[in-house]
Amino acid sequence: MWRNATQAVAGIGPANARVMLVGEQPGDHEDREGTPFVGPSGKLLDEAIAKAGLSRDTLYLTNAVKHFKWETRGPNDERLHSPPAQREREAYRYWLDGELGHIAPKVVVALGATALKALTGHRTALSEYLGKTIEHKGRIVVPTHHPSYLLRVTDEKIRAEVFGTLVKALVLRNRSWTARRPSARR
Ligand code: URA
Repeated sequence: MWRNATQAVAGIGPANARVMLVGEQPGDHEDREGTPFVGPSGKLLDEAIAKAGLSRDTLYLTNAVKHFKWETRGPNDERLHSPPAQREREAYRYWLDGELGHIAPKVVVALGATALKALTGHRTALSEYLGKTIEHKGRIVVPTHHPSYLLRVTDEKIRAEVFGTLVKALVLRNRSWTARRPSARR
């Protein structure tokens, strides 16, 4: 995967972040800039973060896979995202584990099915987990939609619902953290 990418895109955020957001892999913009979530999905994620009353500066943002996998399609030879295969996702496990170890977040928001699989190994459909949290290796994992899903949904009503689910997951992470803070101090 590294051969076709411009650069590896590492996570970004404070080393003491309590909350980590994990996406799938960098997109075209992220590949060029070397920073996660700076393209169209990132803009939608920023909107959801703001709506949830959070600040991006306090969150650690990263991806399950650190290189952009793409194929050219269309008349303009656009570089379009191509989903990582299981063995590719597993090849990046070392770096994701490193980030989880260094940052030691209390709550991890899994943005989409790839992130959920990478974080927990769970293969159940993402829809089964929406609105719920998973306790995994001492962390709370909050599964939700990937913001890029919003880019593919054209129906305004469904779009609003998906956006609402994403915002709720970010609010849910607030509650999970608040709920656990007293016992964490003991
Ligand atoms: N999609 C992702 O999963 N991560 C990014 O950084 C950008 C788009």
